[in-house]
Amino acid sequence: MRLQGKTALITGAARGIGLEFARRYIAEGATVALADINKDAVEAAAASLGPKAVAVVMDVTRQDSIDAGFADAVAKLGKLDILINNAALFSAAPIVEIDRADYDKLFAVNVAGTLFCMQAAAKVMIAAGKGGKIINMASQAGRRGEGLVAVYCATKAAVISLTQSAGLDLIKHRINVNAIAPGVVDGEHWDGVDAFFAKYEGKALGQKKKEVGEAVPHGRMGVASDLTGMAVFLASDEADYIVAQCYGVDGGNWMA
Ligand SMILES: NC(=O)c1ccc[n+]([C@@H]2O[C@H](COP(=O)([O-])OP(=O)(O)OC[C@H]3O[C@@H](n4cnc5c(N)ncnc54)[C@H](O)[C@@H]3O)[C@@H](O)[C@H]2O)c1
Repeated sequence: MRLQGKTALITGAARGIGLEFARRYIAEGATVALADINKDAVEAAAASLGPKAVAVVMDVTRQDSIDAGFADAVAKLGKLDILINNAALFSAAPIVEIDRADYDKLFAVNVAGTLFCMQAAAKVMIAAGKGGKIINMASQAGRRGEGLVAVYCATKAAVISLTQSAGLDLIKHRINVNAIAPGVVDGEHWDGVDAFFAKYEGKALGQKKKEVGEAVPHGRMGVASDLTGMAVFLASDEADYIVAQCYGVDGGNWMA
């Protein structure tokens, strides 16, 4: 019960890693607002987690939606101690095929969404005067380029950079900003990644997943629950002295 009495807002929590974070935070004693652009899915996800979960419909690319979503979450939770910036989009294409609209969309969700949700959370936390914890979902993709994944990699490099700057600025308010860099985590997100590689590398569906799982030093792809320990730790009082860091939780994948 390391998050007993804490409240958290998690973006992109209708499925995948964000939903698993919400489940684990509740098990650790927190009350959680699951925020997502997908109304039906986020309402079903929150309902599945019981009375300590509430649903918030939020599009992280729109300032009016962020403002309304944070106001809704604070009204439902009573306060805000923790934000996880988890919502993101993925795409892949060779450099000569990158589409400008796709680039704009990925940067709007992954980078601007992260920045302006951090800003909204920081305003609430500073006004309350009790500090807080912000966790941004980066990626191993933000630590180096990938031939077919230029735009997503660049967005996640930007998330790591924003974590460093915001971490340095907000710690004076006792708000710790840190990031988690997963490797390859199985789920609907990676079904989409696999489909991109099937298209551009001529692989059968499922082949890329199999290959990346076998290449992880730990011996398999990650699952969402592999990441929850770090997400709980960074949100807990034990992480009070950790500022502007990005932690790899990837079975050794990036190091290899
Ligand atoms: N799965 C992996 O292998 C992996 C690896 C490294 C990093 N990550 C990162 O971890 C995080 C979670 O990944 P996942 O695999 O659970 O992804 P996912 O695609 O399964 O879930 C993303 C969620 O974000 C929501 N979303 C999309 N656009 C939104 C918007 N504009 N406003 C609000 N919500 C929006 C989607 O509806 C979805 O519920 C992401 O930041 C991702 O980049 C994932």
